[in-house]
Amino acid sequence: MRREGLAVCAVAALLACGGEGGSPPTGGEPAAEAAAQAGGATAGDPGPGSSPAGEDEDASVDGAALFAARCALCHGSAGDGKGPTGMALEPPPRDFGDPAWQDSVSDEHIERVIAAGGPSVGLSGLMPAHPDLDPDELAALRAHVRSFRR
Ligand code: HEC
Repeated sequence: MRREGLAVCAVAALLACGGEGGSPPTGGEPAAEAAAQAGGATAGDPGPGSSPAGEDEDASVDGAALFAARCALCHGSAGDGKGPTGMALEPPPRDFGDPAWQDSVSDEHIERVIAAGGPSVGLSGLMPAHPDLDPDELAALRAHVRSFRR
């Protein structure tokens, strides 16, 4: 014997009337796993005339981009020491725009503190060393620090 679910239909209709139409959450795709592809080289053959990266042009180093990537978090993109991390440091990084400070330090001092860190010149260890930077990169960063002068 079959019973038609009239009561069930009625309940369902009531629920439909008062339904809130909640939308299921979307997103959360693990896109990072795409990077784990164990693929080999896709390029076919290296060009025979490819020159090694031994060109000595200082202009090839973008000091502004280096500063934005490595320094702005503490020193601020404007060099004023008001980066998101810099404001929490004690002591806070100084304002590179200050002409009195610019006059008080040599280019050598600036490059040294960048390469070897604050303690190398008697400053705070919160200023980290950057031993991976080559002389061209140090010179480009020093020039960028100088460019903040007002
Ligand atoms: C983790 C935060 C942090 C990062 C990253 C950082 N600095 Fe610093 N830096 C400091 C702090 C703090 C001081 C101040 C130390 C003091 O006054 O004792 C400082 C000091 C300096 C000084 C010396 C200022 C002076 O008084 O002579 C220079 C120049 C400098 N930083 C440049 C850079 C450059 C260029 C980079 C990127 C390559 C960089 N810093 C990355 C925190 C940082």
